[in-house]
Amino acid sequence: MRLHGDGGSESFMDASKFTIGVLASGRGTNLQAIINAIETGVVTAQIGVVISDKKDAKALERAKEHNLPTFSVDPKTYPDRAAYDASIVRVLTEHQVQLVICAGYMRLVTHPILEAFQNQIINIHPSLLPAFPGLHAQRQALAYGAKISGCTIHFVDAEVDHGPIISQVSVPILEGDTEESLTNRILIEEHRLLPRVIQSYVEGKLSVEGRKVFQNGTP
Ligand code: GRF
Repeated sequence: MRLHGDGGSESFMDASKFTIGVLASGRGTNLQAIINAIETGVVTAQIGVVISDKKDAKALERAKEHNLPTFSVDPKTYPDRAAYDASIVRVLTEHQVQLVICAGYMRLVTHPILEAFQNQIINIHPSLLPAFPGLHAQRQALAYGAKISGCTIHFVDAEVDHGPIISQVSVPILEGDTEESLTNRILIEEHRLLPRVIQSYVEGKLSVEGRKVFQNGTP
């Protein structure tokens, strides 16, 4: 068995509530922002499952601290990417997930997931896309000499950091900024923006036409 349910309880799940699944590979501060927003009523949904490709991810610890079901799925134990992603779909579906959040998930989301969750997968990226996609976006922005960066939340498509943009927030890049200081400035905005976008989705306010995302009819 390649899937490891490593804790948490499903007994708290409420079948009547909108259910989110979170994919995370690392420290999980965005997951924490979602958890906090749910606990304070800013987001009217529940987290059905948190899945990580790294069994030691801090994100899994955070989930367990809040009694959320967790799964670690080791990509190396699958013959190919499609089989790995199919197993992720299975876990998400079993937990009745209606919206998938990639919150620091360091893998490409491929066909099985994209097909099962069309326009239901959201990613957060620490730059103003289409500038600086991929890894180390903050380092890229500093190296380029950009004066403004920020974060982008977008629907996920088959290309890296590419799908229709839902929302963006800018931050200044200041003289003397390091990768760490810029990262922290952007993270503050990520943690504010992500719950807001999730709640818009939960309330059915988002619609997509081609590359354009409308919130209540407004791009
Ligand atoms: C964030 O900067 C997010 O934009 C990017 O990965 C980082 C994840 O941070 N995709 P965390 O694991 O949520 O703390």
